[in-house]
Amino acid sequence: MSMKNRLISPSLLSADFANLKSDIEMLNTSEADWIHLDVMDGVFVPNISFGFPVIEAVHKYAKKPLDVHLMIVEPQKFIKELKAAGTYMMNVHYETCTHLHRTIQQIKAEGMKAGVTLNPHTPVALLEDIVCDVDMVLLMSVNPGFAGQEFIENTYQKVVQLKELIARKNSNALIQVDGGVNYDTAKKLFDCGADILVSGNFIFNSENPKEVICRLKNV
Ligand code: DX5
Ligand code: ZN
Repeated sequence: MSMKNRLISPSLLSADFANLKSDIEMLNTSEADWIHLDVMDGVFVPNISFGFPVIEAVHKYAKKPLDVHLMIVEPQKFIKELKAAGTYMMNVHYETCTHLHRTIQQIKAEGMKAGVTLNPHTPVALLEDIVCDVDMVLLMSVNPGFAGQEFIENTYQKVVQLKELIARKNSNALIQVDGGVNYDTAKKLFDCGADILVSGNFIFNSENPKEVICRLKNV
């Protein structure tokens, strides 16, 4: 069981967009480690969320690193814009990048951390030749596009496989999981070797989001 990291990145997708500033201030004074921002284009995923102006506005008030999950086609077109908006971790989907190695190098050259995300159907084994170049791998535990979906159980074995791949390749990549995270799934995911969990609905639709963040870190 890895105790290396037990980090939480709350997803703003479930925040109150009309009161974003107060939700950011809540996160600033919580035990959240990062803030997760879900950018959706209505092409790669069947939903549209928000873009650069919102990331920039969040960055103005956020005291935590911005963890930007790009559910968009051709994410390599926006590396400079994302850096300028205050992105710490630029995370692209494996399924959207024909030249993933080049995109990862360009993200790092711009001074951001580079992450790659796998959809639920994309095998971990495909990362064999890129896992040493990335700072983080995100395993989707729901199909990307919406908050509040049911956790896909197959994710646990993907975390174990990824952990093995990272160890075998001597990679420093963190393992992140996104979708359907609650106390029960969080405990199992951390026990399988996940380092950082994203959680939206479970945190923001609770009575006491700060308490939930704290309990998720200590499940
Ligand atoms: C889904 C997004 C997630 C989402 C997670 O496409 O990538 O980050 O906000 O939400 P919950 O925790 O509600 O499943
Ligand atoms: Zn996400």
